[in-house]
Amino acid sequence: MTLIDGKAVSEQVKKEIAEEVEKIVAAGGKRPHLAAVLVGHDGGSETYVANKVKACEVCGFKSTLIRYEENVTEEELLACVRRLNEDADVDGFIVQLPLPKHISEQKVIETIDYRKDVDGFHPINVGRMSIGLPCYISATPNGIMELLRRYNIETQGKKCVILGRSNIVGKPMAMLMMQKSYPGDATVTVCHSRSKTLREECREADIIIAAMGQPEFVTADMVKEGAVVIDVGTTRVPDATRKSGFRLKGDVKFDEVAPKCSYITPVPGGVGPMTIVSLMKNTLLAGKHAVYGD
Ligand code: GUN
Repeated sequence: MTLIDGKAVSEQVKKEIAEEVEKIVAAGGKRPHLAAVLVGHDGGSETYVANKVKACEVCGFKSTLIRYEENVTEEELLACVRRLNEDADVDGFIVQLPLPKHISEQKVIETIDYRKDVDGFHPINVGRMSIGLPCYISATPNGIMELLRRYNIETQGKKCVILGRSNIVGKPMAMLMMQKSYPGDATVTVCHSRSKTLREECREADIIIAAMGQPEFVTADMVKEGAVVIDVGTTRVPDATRKSGFRLKGDVKFDEVAPKCSYITPVPGGVGPMTIVSLMKNTLLAGKHAVYGD
């Protein structure tokens, strides 16, 4: 069994990005600039955004954090998005989700200029991704693709079962794994909370990508000997021994599943660190105008 070390890969990718940025700047080019918009004080969002800003520093990017209180109006937030669309110094930006209930997330996403949508959430990026055109691919699926690539994991013709059908992970993951390229070319099945044959599908899978947000859902009896298991789960469970008061639990019962696997990602330290790196890669592409030109 090989443990997929997302932390190590993410450090390596950040190093590669930083080297490229220094080359760009040395040649007189512009330092990539990512802006992040954070609304309110949700603990998870605060941590994610702080980590994104930190990763920008490591990569040599400029970053700007724009904060609003929970009571910001939808119109104020949309005006901020429009300003960032127009700001020539900002190469890409994200609006951290979730947003307060009185603001339409979809409206915010659709107001972002798709050419600066480094989250890859805009319908133009989602649509282009689904038909294999150049675009910004959302962070988690792209991070998983990078792990499969860096570990040379065979995907062609393999049976890949994806657990979960979210817009952010399950759906784009299915699109990418069925794409005619590497990693991809797999036979993809998407299972979710209403699937009647979920366990049977899993038992036949060469690759399982678990993204349903149910801690320890995937047990040893659901996994074929030699399978590749990618765990996207990051549920916070209370843990009094930690300073934070919680720890992260994956969707896979790691201790009993790992011995059966050819490859498996741990939680934490697997997919998680790769998601921020994917955002950094998209920001580098945005800085270079590599996806949509000028
Ligand atoms: N909330 C959870 N994941 C993400 C993400 O990748 N991007 C944004 N903007 N918000 C998130």
